[in-house]
Amino acid sequence: MSPTTVALVTGGTSGLGLAVADRLISSGVLPVLLGRSEERGQEALKALGGPAVFVRGDVADEPEVTEALDVATRHGSLRIVVNCAGVPHAARVLGRSGPHSLERFVDVVTTNLVGTFNVVRLASERMAANAPVDQERGVIVNTASLAAFEGQVGQAAYAASKGGIVSMTLPLARELADSLIRVVTVAPGFFATPAVATVPAAARAALDHDLVHPKRWGDPGEFAGLIAHIIDNPMINGETIRIDGAVRMSSSPRRRSS
Ligand SMILES: NC(=O)c1ccc[n+]([C@@H]2O[C@H](COP(=O)([O-])OP(=O)(O)OC[C@H]3O[C@@H](n4cnc5c(N)ncnc54)[C@H](O)[C@@H]3O)[C@@H](O)[C@H]2O)c1
Repeated sequence: MSPTTVALVTGGTSGLGLAVADRLISSGVLPVLLGRSEERGQEALKALGGPAVFVRGDVADEPEVTEALDVATRHGSLRIVVNCAGVPHAARVLGRSGPHSLERFVDVVTTNLVGTFNVVRLASERMAANAPVDQERGVIVNTASLAAFEGQVGQAAYAASKGGIVSMTLPLARELADSLIRVVTVAPGFFATPAVATVPAAARAALDHDLVHPKRWGDPGEFAGLIAHIIDNPMINGETIRIDGAVRMSSSPRRRSS
């Protein structure tokens, strides 16, 4: 019998990551959810429609990611990593109360970019030890944002963190090709998730101005559908794919005129 295929899904306890975990379960993959909150982890395990594992940890912490990878490899063959962990952030470089907090800039880049790289480097070492299946040892999918391309006023830190994920996609894919591991990035537009629910309604309505077609926010299941296709399609590698319904974000969120 072939070993269970295991996927590490960072930020897998909510939003886009949780939808990815659900989709993986429906394909017979065991998701290992890495997240910071034990409580959210247990809630996610209850919400999912099949077997999954939760490991508490921070993506930017080497021992905690190593522990999650140990758990993942104990359960089967780690062939899939989906990095969804991330934090939103909005603050002006020159705000009313002074310049942008340097500490906050470092925090955002540490979680979103350094955390993603930390998982990629440690997971790829494990995947490189897999026996090839269909000439592949694994696939890693990272999550950027439209802010990597069209960061709005107030998004300097967030855009820098997501732009770094886009920029490292090709060099990672080129280097890990020797190990038969693909690296792909997805840049989502506006998706209805718990992170977005914390944004004030007026700010969300202002973003609606940029919607093109469909004129609605994305469903996390639609993001998960793209991830499933990337995992299945060996020709997708070294690329960032936008999933945004043609949205191109304006310089700053615009208020509706009516
Ligand atoms: N929802 C959107 O519209 C949207 C748009 C563009 C990009 N994204 C990106 O998609 C990803 C998922 O976002 P979401 O909307 O599902 O948000 P979410 O808040 O529902 O999920 C993010 C998850 O990451 C976890 N996380 C945060 N920091 C972590 C850390 N240091 N270590 C481990 N886990 C950590 C959070 O606890 C949370 O469970 C994020 O990277 C986000 O930047 C989302």
